[in-house]
Amino acid sequence: MRAALLTQANGPLEIVDDLEIEEPRVGEVLVGVTHCGICHSDITIQESGHTLPTVLGHEAAGVVEAVGPGVTHLSIGDHVMLTPLAPCGHCPACARHEATACPGALSFSMNARPDGSTPFHRAGAPVYRGLGVGGWAEQTVISASGAVKIAPDIPLDIACVIGCAMQTGVGAVFNSADVERGSSVLVMGLGGIGQAIVQGAVAAGATTIIVSDPVEGRREVASGFGATHLVDPTSDDLNAAVADATGGTGVDYAFDAAGRAAVVEAGIENTRVGGTTVMVGASPIDENVTINAAVLFMTMQKRLIGSLLGHCWPDRDIPLLLDLWRAGRLDLDGMISHRMDLSDVNEGIAKLHAADGIRTVLDISA
Ligand SMILES: NC(=O)c1ccc[n+]([C@@H]2O[C@H](COP(=O)([O-])OP(=O)(O)OC[C@H]3O[C@@H](n4cnc5c(N)ncnc54)[C@H](O)[C@@H]3O)[C@@H](O)[C@H]2O)c1
Ligand SMILES: [Zn+2]
Ligand SMILES: [Zn+2]
Repeated sequence: MRAALLTQANGPLEIVDDLEIEEPRVGEVLVGVTHCGICHSDITIQESGHTLPTVLGHEAAGVVEAVGPGVTHLSIGDHVMLTPLAPCGHCPACARHEATACPGALSFSMNARPDGSTPFHRAGAPVYRGLGVGGWAEQTVISASGAVKIAPDIPLDIACVIGCAMQTGVGAVFNSADVERGSSVLVMGLGGIGQAIVQGAVAAGATTIIVSDPVEGRREVASGFGATHLVDPTSDDLNAAVADATGGTGVDYAFDAAGRAAVVEAGIENTRVGGTTVMVGASPIDENVTINAAVLFMTMQKRLIGSLLGHCWPDRDIPLLLDLWRAGRLDLDGMISHRMDLSDVNEGIAKLHAADGIRTVLDISA
């Protein structure tokens, strides 16, 4: 079958038509992927060359084509949303509904199954399943707990952005931070993740939503989603803008959706006494966040938390996000600025590098 393959770090993706796929094993499903977005985390793996060769793409939706032994909740023909963190269902973390702490789910970072094997092969050699999904391929095999059945009338080309951007962004607001109505929120970085945080903040009832991004078009999109104050960090004074918007106290919640340690530090600086900074962005591994412990945490009681995939539990949160979309409280279509065929994946990646638009969705079945 056809897939976009990463064969070398920093290399362009190669469109191949000879990727082999296994039948689903116990507890797995084979999904015909119809649509998959492009996220900055794909680029991070592309740049690092982690586990090559790899099929990237982790923001996907599709149709079940085969079910493995023991799978009872999915049937051939079901429409499904895929999620990068498929919970094992029987560990202590899963008992607490914390997929993002489940060791089985976290094996997504190995780009393989928990046992190290992978359902993709090419000329007999293993090909890895990037970020747990491998969505830039016509078919993928994943754990059935990572495929959530959705109503057949939901357009898959729109729903796919729930897989990463909306789970990560809205989940960071609802689950990780638990933003209350009337809150003040600062969102730094306005790609797909930051825009989803803005939408989540609006849905949670935040009334002051300050956004910061050097890209004017992205600030305008955030304004359309409900941001109340727009900041250009290259020319405006962020601290002054936050002080101005909050009567000098600082925000209740700050979110890093840029993936830079300095942005996390700006969040800590700009939260109020007892405020929370949420690390959603993936800072480069060699960057450290510097914190003045005495001032920030003893007298100011600030909190700093990490957030992976918005602490989402797929069976609970994917249906919730779709319900909010149906109710008109989340805008999925507005997240998608470009639609392309799988063969144009390198052009889509170039657009993400250039911060052109918000999300590009690839039509995998075209
Ligand atoms: N926590 C998770 O589970 C999770 C999931 C998906 C993505 N991510 C990470 O989230 C980050 C955002 O992903 P994305 O797909 O939206 O990326 P993106 O590249 O589309 O957006 C990043 C934005 O940050 C802006 N930016 C850069 N420096 C900034 C600064 N100093 N202040 C304000 N804005 C700044 C850029 O202009 C850009 O618009 C990435 O680091 C990605 O790896 C994390
Ligand atoms: Zn992602
Ligand atoms: Zn588990």
